[in-house]
Amino acid sequence: MTEADKNAIPDEEREDRQDDPNPVMAEIGAHDTSSAVALVGHPIHAMMVHFPIAFTVATLGADVFYWWSGDDFWLRVGLWAVGGAFATGVAAGLAGTAELLLVKGIRVRVASWTHAITAMMLISILGLNWGLRLVAPEAVLPHGIAVSALAMVFTGFAGWHGGKLVFDHGVGAIVSPKQ
Ligand code: HEM
Repeated sequence: MTEADKNAIPDEEREDRQDDPNPVMAEIGAHDTSSAVALVGHPIHAMMVHFPIAFTVATLGADVFYWWSGDDFWLRVGLWAVGGAFATGVAAGLAGTAELLLVKGIRVRVASWTHAITAMMLISILGLNWGLRLVAPEAVLPHGIAVSALAMVFTGFAGWHGGKLVFDHGVGAIVSPKQ
């Protein structure tokens, strides 16, 4: 038995999902939600999302330290941290978008689109925050720090909805036997 066979959804469980009395829910439950963008059985998107989350937290931290100390060192930390957040956010977003478009069981769930939209808004805010610092580094107080705080709020929204996909819908938890 291959690794992929061991990870396949058991037939009984797949049938349970199709037994929902609501025909719309039964139709949604009938589709496979396994990750299609995975590396040796590990969904790539789930491996990547920690980086934009950590860099976004680091950006707000650098801004707070700059506000507190006035030391230009924290301006440079913030610039690199938000650049890292944007670049890794785009990379994670590409893996997530591929997953969303390729896997029917993910695509048909409204929750997937809620997560995708909040995540794309987060990536846009990160791009704004990086661009602001590139053209006007002194604008960190008050504009940059405010955008960093907004990015933290959207990291919460995107991460919460991403987590719901995995823990409530079982999305991406099992690699397809097709792989
Ligand atoms: C275009 C943007 C994005 C799309 C379309 C997208 C799509 C998805 C999909 C389909 C999943 C289900 C798991 C999987 O199949 O791998 C997921 C999970 C998740 N996403 Fe995204 N995503 C995007 C960007 C982001 C970003 C920027 C973040 C960072 C805040 C993020 C955070 C998460 C988290 C925390 C999970 C749960 C992972 C786990 O715990 O295993 N996503 N996303």
